Formats: sequence, structure tokens, C-alpha cells
Amino acid sequence: MKQKAPILSDRLQQEFNKRFGHPPEFIVSAPGRVNLIGEHTDYNDGFVFPVAIDKHLHIAAGKRSDRQVHLHALDMDETCTFSLEAIEDAKTPPWGNYLRGVAHLLQEQVLREIEHTLNGMSAVIAGNVPISAGLSSSAALEVASALAFLGACSLEVADTDMNSDSEIELIEIPPMKLAALCQRAEHEFAGVNCGIMDQSISLLGKADHALFLDCRSLEYKQIPLNLTDILIVICNTNVKRELASSEYNKRRAECEKGVEILQRWMPSITSLRDVTLADFKKYEAELPQITQKRCRYVVEENTRVQNAVDALIAKNINTFGELMNASHAGLRDAYEVSCDELNILVDIAQSIDGVIGARMTGAGFGGCTVNLVYQDTVEEFQDRLMKEYTQRTGIEPDIYICNVGDGARIKWNSHS
Ligand code: GLA
Repeated sequence: MKQKAPILSDRLQQEFNKRFGHPPEFIVSAPGRVNLIGEHTDYNDGFVFPVAIDKHLHIAAGKRSDRQVHLHALDMDETCTFSLEAIEDAKTPPWGNYLRGVAHLLQEQVLREIEHTLNGMSAVIAGNVPISAGLSSSAALEVASALAFLGACSLEVADTDMNSDSEIELIEIPPMKLAALCQRAEHEFAGVNCGIMDQSISLLGKADHALFLDCRSLEYKQIPLNLTDILIVICNTNVKRELASSEYNKRRAECEKGVEILQRWMPSITSLRDVTLADFKKYEAELPQITQKRCRYVVEENTRVQNAVDALIAKNINTFGELMNASHAGLRDAYEVSCDELNILVDIAQSIDGVIGARMTGAGFGGCTVNLVYQDTVEEFQDRLMKEYTQRTGIEPDIYICNVGDGARIKWNSHS
């Protein structure tokens, strides 16, 4: 009989034990995300509508008595060590920089205020969020690292799942402050000027809800999905997002340039969030052609998110799907962050009866699409995407049915 592979958390515990000679004190799990609508709006102070998915980055960890951080990434079989005394940017391994960044900022922005210092930490890291697929594996790593470094100081964020261990001190850190800290780690230690969506949903995800986040005020609402006979299906092009960080930063700069020009006529605006479509139409001819296309997409997408949330609340799922389709068209033709493989997946999906909406998700240039599909069409959906996408591209896609789960959690190990 074939032996069952040990589940991921068991593998993590075993590896931790093997490397460090004792069980981990805790395991942190932070989810990836899929964004239903509201793409490239977060860094324009706009609206987003992501969900947390049932794929996670896990860190099994425990405190050390020195000020060293010893990390091992199980899937990559790579190790990284650094000292908390002098945290510096280092080129290798690239994933180590996320943890360096988070540790540095936690010390500066959170622990100093409460007169705490970081403890050294030993950790083993593993996960099943596909990397470079537009499902926020980096945000999951940042968020998991933040909770792990706090855990190694016997600190737990007050509103994560409660524990009964009296040795753990609960600290009040607003989740959006932690999300902003993780975002900053990505800017400063990974060189991507990302928005705040991915870190927020990884922390704040709620089962069967989507997060309606205003990226300016940072106010948010958990909106029930109520998708009884509908599934969220993710299709991975299996094309890595090679261009993503350079083109991403370029798009961001183009939006900022648009705002700067529009300020001549609308001096009170500070981001594209402040521009209505009617105002945009008045002045768009003043913008260089590329800037105009980019800005128009963002202005329209912000309206689409708000309409999509209203449609979902009103149980008008077909409107929601049409807005997803329109979002994809904008990303493909105006914002130009899609690619042939994403467009092929979306075209096939949109041609199937029983698919409510389909679009690329995340930064683009490869990665995944998100699809709303009636349950009784899912089999046909899987068969057709598998067959037609493989025929047209020579690449096999991965298709996941996504359960919408909760945000990051820490689970203390009572046996340590
Ligand atoms: C990446 C970034 C997010 C967001 C999306 C595009 O995932 O990390 O902040 O900008 O791209 O919507």
C-alpha cells in the first residue's frame, strides 16, 4: 500500500526538530489571496475587493537565546542566517530579505514603542501558495514573518485567534499598521513599490467574505460572498511573471505623472482616486497618450469596484461578472499588464455558458485568472480550459477551486 505523504505542518515540525533539536514553539500560517476586482487601484488610493485563499505560507518557529535568526526554506532547501544586531539588505537568498525587512521594521516601528527588543528566532518555512503566480506569496511570507518574530518575543497580536497560554502577552497593533509595515518591507527590502492590498487581506481575510478596502482611509468592510451554487476558480497560466516588478513600478510612475499633469486643472487632487470619470473626460486630452490610457483605466476600475460590491450585496451576480469581464478588458487594452496566456484563459472561460465572469488577477504579466463559475459547469470548465489552453499555448494550466478562508493565525505548540 502506498504511504500517505505527511501533511505540511507535520513535515515542518519534523524538519524543525531535526535541525534545532526540539519542537517549534508555534506555527504561523498566512494565506495568499485572489483579488475579485480592483486591480492596480491600491497604490492609487482606490478600492480593492480580494479574498484570502486556502493556500498558505507556514513558519514553524521558536525563540533563541542569542540575537541570531536561523531560517530554512523547506521547499527550496535553502538556508539563511542573519544577526538582529545589524540587519542589512543582502542579495541571497532573495526570500531572506522579506524577513530581514520585516524584522528591522518591527523593531523600529512597533517594539521600540513598547520597550521590547526582538529575540533571535529559529524557523522552518514552507508553503503551498504558488510563487510568482499573482496569488501574493510574498505578502503571505511578510505577514507570516511579522507574526513569527512577534511570537518569538512571546507576543501575539490581540485579535488573532486567542490562546490560553498565560506566558503570551497580547499586544494591540491595528492590523492595518502591521499590513503597512509589511508593505514597507517589500518596498525597502525587495524593491517593489506595491500597494497595501495583499498584506491587508493576508491579515484580515475572513472565511466566505471578501474584503472591501478603501486604500486611502484604510477603512474596510467584510462583505459576505453568499455564493451558494457558484465557485471561485483560479487558473494558473504557469507563465512566471518575469516583467512584473519593473513594469509594475513603471505603471505606478505613469499614474503619478498623470496626477501631476491633471493637478494643473484640478489642484486639489492628490491621486487618481480623486478624479471622477466626468472630470477625467474634460482634461484627458491634455495627457500624453500612454498616460491617458493608464489613468483612464484606473479611474474606471475604481468605479467598477464600487459597483461590483453593490451588485454582490444586491445578489446581482451577473452584473458582478460583467464588471469582472470589463476589468480584464481594461487591464489588457489600456493598462497593458496582461499577456497572451492570460488572455487565452480568459477568452476560453468567457465563451463557456455558466461562467459568470473571468479576469486576470494580481499584478499581471503572467500568473493567474480568477473565474466565477456555476457549480454545475465546473467540470466542463476544467476540461475545456485544460484542453484548449494546452492546445493553444503548449503549456498545461493548473486549476484550483478556491475556498475562501481566514487571515493569518498563530498556533502555539503545547508540547514545546
Ligand atoms: C500586486 C501588488 C498589489 C496590487 C496588485 C495589483 O499584487 O502587490 O499591491 O497593486 O499587484 O492590483
